[in-house]
Amino acid sequence: MSEFALHVEGLEAGYEPGLPIVRNASLTVTPGEIVAILGPNGAGKSSLVKAVAGLVPISKGSVWLHGRDITKTPAHRMVFEGLAFVPQTENVFINLSVAENLELAAAIVQAKRQSALEPVYAMFPDLLRQSSLLAGQLSGGQRQMLAVARALIAKPRLLILDEPSAGLSPLLVGQVFAKLREVRASGITVLLVEQNVKSALALADRAVVLVEGRERIVGRSEDLLNDERVAALYLGRHTGKQAAGEQA
Ligand SMILES: Nc1ncnc2c1ncn2[C@@H]1O[C@H](COP(=O)(O)OP(=O)(O)OP(=O)(O)O)[C@@H](O)[C@H]1O
Ligand SMILES: [Mg+2]
Repeated sequence: MSEFALHVEGLEAGYEPGLPIVRNASLTVTPGEIVAILGPNGAGKSSLVKAVAGLVPISKGSVWLHGRDITKTPAHRMVFEGLAFVPQTENVFINLSVAENLELAAAIVQAKRQSALEPVYAMFPDLLRQSSLLAGQLSGGQRQMLAVARALIAKPRLLILDEPSAGLSPLLVGQVFAKLREVRASGITVLLVEQNVKSALALADRAVVLVEGRERIVGRSEDLLNDERVAALYLGRHTGKQAAGEQA
C-alpha cells in the first residue's frame, strides 16, 4: 500500500448515522500524479474528499496516506500527516490581508514565518505584489491562488482541492490549472474534484468518475475523453451539456 500517495479502500461516509453518502468507494493516487474526481451533481465528490480530509465521519473502510492509516486522523491533524485540503468555498479569510492569510497558515503548522512564506511567494509572485490587500478584494482567480498558496505553506505531500475552477472564467481556469501543474512539478501529488470535464481531463493523468457515492469509471484521462460512458453520464445534466459539447 505504501507505493500509493493515497489509497482509499471501501470507504463509507456520511453526515448522519445509517445514511451513507459515500458508499464503498475506492481509489488510489500514485506519487507525482494529478488525479481528477468527476461525476454528476450530488454524486458525493465533495463528501468523498471531505471524508478523506477528516471532515465527514467515516463509518467503514480505510484511508492510507503514503502507507500510513489516516482513517481516524482528525481534520486539524491532517497537515502534520502531509495532507492539505482546499475546500470549494470559504477557503481564505476575506477580512484578513493576503499576507495575514499566509502568516496564519504558517502559524498553524508552527512554521517559521520567513522560511514558510518565501517559497510560496516565489511561486505566486502576484500574491507578493498584492500582499497588503484584503483577501476579499482579490479577483476570483487570485483568491483561488491564495487558497492554494495557503495550503502549500504546510509543505504537503498531497494536495486535495474541491472544484478549484468553480466560478472562474475559462482564462482563469487555465491559470489556476497551470499553477497546479507547477505544484505537481514541485513534487506534490494532486487530487482534485472537477465539474469541468474537458479541462479536468486535460490536466489530470487519471480520473475517477463517481456516481452515487462510489467510483463507476476509472481510467487514464486520454481514454476517458473518448469514453462513451463518461459522455452518457453527463448527457442531459447541468454539467453534461457542457461535457457532451466539449467532446464533439
Ligand atoms: N452537510 C451535509 N449534510 C447532509 N447532507 C449533505 C451535506 N453535504 C452534502 N450532503 C448530501 O450529500 C450528497 C452528496 O453531496 P456532495 O456535495 O458530496 O456531492 P457533489 O458530488 O460534491 O455535488 P456537486 O457537484 O453539486 O458539488 C447530496 O445528496 C447532498 O445533499
Ligand atoms: Mg461538490
